[in-house]
Amino acid sequence: MIRLVRGFKDILPEETGLWQYVEGVVRELFDDFGFAELRIPIVEQTELFARSIGADTDIVEKEMYTFADRSGGSLTLRPEATASVVRAYIEHKLYAKDPVWKLYSVGPMFRRERPQKGRYRQFCQINAEVFGLHDPRADAELVLFLMTFMQRLELSDIELHINSLGCPECRPSFKKALKAFLAGRSERLCSDCLRRRDKNPLRIFDCKVPSCKETMQDAPSILEHLCKDCRNHFDTVQRALEGFYIPFQTNHRLVRGLDYYTRTTFEVLAGALGAQDAVAGGGRYDGLVKSLGGPDQPGVGFAIGVDRVMELLAGRAQEFEKRPDLYIAALGSQAQDRAFEWMQHIRRQKVRTEMDFQDRSLKAQMRRANKLGASYVLIVGDRELEEGAAVLRNLETRKQEQVPVRDLVSIVVSNIRRSRII
Ligand code: HAM
Repeated sequence: MIRLVRGFKDILPEETGLWQYVEGVVRELFDDFGFAELRIPIVEQTELFARSIGADTDIVEKEMYTFADRSGGSLTLRPEATASVVRAYIEHKLYAKDPVWKLYSVGPMFRRERPQKGRYRQFCQINAEVFGLHDPRADAELVLFLMTFMQRLELSDIELHINSLGCPECRPSFKKALKAFLAGRSERLCSDCLRRRDKNPLRIFDCKVPSCKETMQDAPSILEHLCKDCRNHFDTVQRALEGFYIPFQTNHRLVRGLDYYTRTTFEVLAGALGAQDAVAGGGRYDGLVKSLGGPDQPGVGFAIGVDRVMELLAGRAQEFEKRPDLYIAALGSQAQDRAFEWMQHIRRQKVRTEMDFQDRSLKAQMRRANKLGASYVLIVGDRELEEGAAVLRNLETRKQEQVPVRDLVSIVVSNIRRSRII
């Protein structure tokens, strides 16, 4: 048997109801917050990711699915969406119509990480980007969006961590302090971090190797090196969050796994997830649009890891399984023909309806109705047709009533609708 590729997964019918529910909640919320959907491709030129995410990051160094195109170029399955959204903002000159855009995308990302619980090689992200706004309230609003989303899904045990990574003005002084701190600690760093120490020392905060992590516990804090503008920006973000009673912790080690960030970074963590506890993460990237050849427009965004949200909601999958409202148990060929016709009319009125095509016994059909979790069964045989009345049974209350065949569709539909309201 040919099996799934390691790190990839199928999302089975019993799970897809919950996925659709979460996607519905988030699309509604994006609407309320004034976001428009942007659909971007899964494949991009490799260079786009190397230049935006950063050549020294784990993603670009080790995790990309890159392949040679037959026409000679190098292509990569997107490991994240921000780079593609920025490319589209520039390529379609969206900024010329209006520099301010609020865009969201939903879809699969690909990273060749070591698979484990909560970490897959194909995973789904809900991604949001806001362009053209320097104001710290834009950062706070995205965090507010994330927390509202978590609340709507009734997720608890959630922590919010925030940090500021400064700007090209103040970061060099921090890098200098960090390099001085690392100078006497070479023997504690892994070979990747030794290599990153001179070029990109902030990356060391993100290293998972225990001795590197331990070393960085005593590292200087970037928050003590912020310039006046970055300090003000970060203070305003915090005040805005406090204004909405959103609890948060500042975490000066939160550099995130991508190099494009400036100023605010944030992450939402869920204790119940174990080792891979980040449900969502994001931040500001004021230099990225320009560095990819666009105008000097700021950006800020986030991505939610949908697979991890699903893990938190796993116990609720059953609530969202789609069950028929009505199952028609038809006995005899005439009844089957009429039932088939009724079913199409009933479905047109948005009542989920199923029937059996195998001419089985009433007992077998009732068993199937129960197995599918139908709310009602309509029982009709050739004799009922002749007498002009079928039987509608509520499987929950076990109450049943006669329904005249002549007005069957409208009566059945209105009965089922009424019971939905109750
Ligand atoms: P990220 O932190 O790399 O940020 O990913 C965001 C979220 O995607 C993570 O918090 C996690 O929930 C989920 N995720 C990441 N990798 C995996 C994986 N291998 N398996 C399952 N879930 C995963 C970004 O991707 C940025 N583009 C976010 C952003 C948007 N920043 C600004 N705009």
